[in-house]
Amino acid sequence: MSNIAIFASGSGSNAEQIIRYFSGNPEHAVKLILSNNANAYVLERAKNLSVPSFVFDRQTFYNAHKVLDLLREAEIDIIVLAGFLWLVPDYLLVTFPQRIINIHPALLPEFGGKGMYGARVHEAVIREGRKKSGITIHLIDEEYDRGNILFQAECPVLPGDTPDDLASRIHQLEHRYFPETINSYLENLGPLSYSAQIPTDKI
Ligand code: GAR
Repeated sequence: MSNIAIFASGSGSNAEQIIRYFSGNPEHAVKLILSNNANAYVLERAKNLSVPSFVFDRQTFYNAHKVLDLLREAEIDIIVLAGFLWLVPDYLLVTFPQRIINIHPALLPEFGGKGMYGARVHEAVIREGRKKSGITIHLIDEEYDRGNILFQAECPVLPGDTPDDLASRIHQLEHRYFPETINSYLENLGPLSYSAQIPTDKI
């Protein structure tokens, strides 16, 4: 049994797919949605799907224990970043080693890094005249868009594509593969032990 927390900053279409995929699953469940954006549509989706949500500001996320306390209370085993735009702080990396999964809307290692998210990624892919793009699902570490790749899938970039055209093709891939990649990863993962103490300099 694994409890999943999803961090999302925007629309949350991936978060919704993941919640729906795991609903009714006796093994794994989405327990919590967390967002840095009080206006994010993902919060509406969470409400409609009866998943509790929590909004934090920069100060709370980077300097306080509140987020960690919430994750502990909900006995979260794994964090999924579904369109989450802030760098994950050390205290979460330490508490959830190899247990934070991100999705990126391009074929990493290309078109990743700081500032490369959402439409900016698709604009760059089109501007550079690439014939294909895709998705990357990967574990995260202290750098943006690094860490072990769990899954990639490709799609074509067609002549005349706008960033929106490419985004919707990418979203289709994400919705199709993100939930099942999380599920496969969970199959080899036991519950998280919270017993390990977090070094105080990491909080
Ligand atoms: C997704 O395409 C995801 O790959 C991207 O944000 C979008 C969120 O869509 N993430 C990044 O760019 C992270 N670097 P959604 O809110 O509809 O799930």
